[in-house]
Amino acid sequence: MKAPLLTAAALTTLTLGASQAAAQDCVAPSGDPFELDAAAVAEVYACMEAGMLEGYTSGDDPVAPVYRDWTVTATRPAVAGPHGERLLLTFANETAAEQYLKFETEGVAMPAGSVLAKESIKLGEDGKARVGPLFIMTKVASGEAEDTDNWVYSGVLPNGKPLSFKQSFCHDCHAGFAGQDALAYPVEEVRVGATN
Ligand code: HEC
Repeated sequence: MKAPLLTAAALTTLTLGASQAAAQDCVAPSGDPFELDAAAVAEVYACMEAGMLEGYTSGDDPVAPVYRDWTVTATRPAVAGPHGERLLLTFANETAAEQYLKFETEGVAMPAGSVLAKESIKLGEDGKARVGPLFIMTKVASGEAEDTDNWVYSGVLPNGKPLSFKQSFCHDCHAGFAGQDALAYPVEEVRVGATN
């Protein structure tokens, strides 16, 4: 796959039409995805979960089989504008979790070895929910990826194959979260530890 244009809309096109999970025919709740309540989200997620994991792990990506054992950073998947208006749920590995879960906005410096993996589910206008890519950010040692603040971006398609794109495609947007070491964090209402 060629690197798409640098737009949030381009991210939408990364969802494969015929994924294994889609074959289960999970129904996308009708209405505005931004207004979904927790129960509606839980229902879609429960339907998608097993097929999603099966798809991500059907290739040889090293993160796919392990990220589910990491720390979940939100109380439920939620839709954010970027990443193609998908339901998103981010997991942080052991190196990343402590700092990530503070959701700090200034002076953040993630330790090398930090990995964030984010599941995505596309709610189609045709009423079906489909698995989107697993998006991954890995913090490497200082100097190893200077152009991208030592983050390496990768991704796994719903069929287990690697997502291909230019590093700048991801980082040009993530770099905007400057004081947060390029991390964007889940939407506030679902962050683990947020006012509940
Ligand atoms: C147009 C802006 C934009 C682009 C392009 C983009 N992202 Fe993101 N990314 C975000 C936002 C906003 C979030 C937080 C949304 C959420 O998780 O609810 C996020 C969250 C993430 C996370 C969870 C860690 C964090 O930042 O909190 C990962 C991992 C991630 N993106 C990987 C990628 C990868 C890999 C690419 C390229 C294929 C990419 N992103 C492209 C905006 C973008």
